[in-house]
Amino acid sequence: MDPTKRTRRLGAAALALGALLLGGCDSVQGLTADQAVPAAVSWGEIQPILQKSCLPCHNDAVQPAFKDEATTGPQAASIRSTIVEGWMPVPGTVKFSFHDRDMLLRWADSAMTRYAQKKED
Ligand code: HEC
Repeated sequence: MDPTKRTRRLGAAALALGALLLGGCDSVQGLTADQAVPAAVSWGEIQPILQKSCLPCHNDAVQPAFKDEATTGPQAASIRSTIVEGWMPVPGTVKFSFHDRDMLLRWADSAMTRYAQKKED
């Protein structure tokens, strides 16, 4: 066999092996990344936060109301963006700790996936 052809074949084999190895690494990295992602936040966990920090205003008087997950889920993207922008809850009106903020944002992120919404910010 002519040496350039042989080198080319070797190169192709090396590429294939590389792709295989990379593919293998990817799934290992995927596993590690999954483990680093905090567990999804459930409606039950954020309900008391909504109750304390949002529902004082978001009741029948101020819409949207956040009564249950079925009606609140589709609003996850706008909930997320109003919180990220610091617009909600109206600053200085209710208690809203960093932990509350983190929990609501994590719930909103997963709800946006479940209800197939795009990020607004
Ligand atoms: C002090 C009262 C008050 C509190 C507390 C409050 N909101 Fe609001 N929120 C309002 C009012 C008033 C509006 C309507 C503003 C408008 O339509 O101009 C509103 C509007 C919104 C909207 C709709 C924005 C849009 O684009 O139409 C979202 C989403 C929202 N609030 C989320 C929240 C969340 C989440 C919380 C709790 C973390 C919260 N709000 C707490 C008064 C409040």
